[in-house]
Amino acid sequence: MKVTYTIAALAGSALAAPKAEKSPRAPAAACSSAVTLDASTNVWQNYKLHANPFYRDEVNKAVDAISDSSLKASAAKVADVGSFLWIDTIENIAKVQPAIDDTPCSDILGLVIYDLPGRDCAAKASNGELKYNELDKYKTQYIDPIVKLLQGAPNTAFALLIEPDSLPNLVTNADLQTCKDSASSYRDGVAYALKSLNLPNVVMYIDAGHGGWLGWDANLKPGAEELAKAYKAADSPKQVRGFSTNIAGWNAWDLSPGEFSTASDAKYNSCQNEKIYVQKFSAALKTAGMPNYAIVDTGRNAVTGLRAEWGDWCNVDGAGFGVRPTATTGEPQADAFVWGKPGGESDGTSDTGATRYDSFCGKDDAFKPSPEAGTWNQAYFEMLLKNASPAF
Ligand code: BGC
Repeated sequence: MKVTYTIAALAGSALAAPKAEKSPRAPAAACSSAVTLDASTNVWQNYKLHANPFYRDEVNKAVDAISDSSLKASAAKVADVGSFLWIDTIENIAKVQPAIDDTPCSDILGLVIYDLPGRDCAAKASNGELKYNELDKYKTQYIDPIVKLLQGAPNTAFALLIEPDSLPNLVTNADLQTCKDSASSYRDGVAYALKSLNLPNVVMYIDAGHGGWLGWDANLKPGAEELAKAYKAADSPKQVRGFSTNIAGWNAWDLSPGEFSTASDAKYNSCQNEKIYVQKFSAALKTAGMPNYAIVDTGRNAVTGLRAEWGDWCNVDGAGFGVRPTATTGEPQADAFVWGKPGGESDGTSDTGATRYDSFCGKDDAFKPSPEAGTWNQAYFEMLLKNASPAF
């Protein structure tokens, strides 16, 4: 996953340290009757983002690999944090049912729908399995089977994050041949996903990049219109609640002045922190005629001042885990802070010889070495943990 934008179309002793216990699997007592989510309300006030078994396993393995007993103890706590599960290939649809079986009635299972044809058209690190002209395969072999699984679990609540980066890329990277090629599959694919996944036990958020991307003054309106177009092409599905921001991103929520506010081009972007971006983008969505509540990824945004440029997106060095998932955001348009990107999974490989090597992952501010996107990076996980704020 990556994020490219163009401006304005332009401590204690070992003895005293607590013993690290592996987090036990959550007791899964599914709801006893069908779940109906009212997408005109903030469902995060009633449901907790589930600490899904896949991230829990990754973290538990990471805990095993740590020898320092105090770090081990804090690492173990990460297993209990709710995060989204990425369904990034057809094969990984197999992760959905075990995650459903693990979700208690108190929780909402977060899934990222992420397999569009020609995926990640403005970068290389997360190029997907489907070619830009394989829309039919996306519909029948990816979306349809997921719909079946969700229909088969009426007693489970789901929050879906729809196709990170895709529509934002059509707004700002439309001049790239790869994005031109993918444009119609993205638009039709997102609309198909929204229409098909419009189930009573589901609430959906369409990805809107972040403040350093669609937050540029010249991008807000076209960005909102691009999302609204997909929403309307899907016949305005009832279960769409709004948009997601900062997914796999690094922006601080309400830092003021904002991290890049002294940059020479700052005057062209009035969204200098993510909170302002949520406010302005939601206003633009309202004008464009789409539901406009947000979820915001705070998984890795604890440390600021690390990126040379706002658009740097790959494995930012020095990052830390941010605020844990919560419906207390202090901002009426922001439903919840969530962990979108599972912290510890790479954004892209730093191996310059790899097919999916993207130069952003070789920049000075990118952590190296880093494995392929989505693959576990133990050293990066430990860094996020040490730099976490609030601390674990
Ligand atoms: C990768 C996916 C992965 C996701 C979550 C993306 O950058 O392309 O394969 O599932 O990150 O780590």
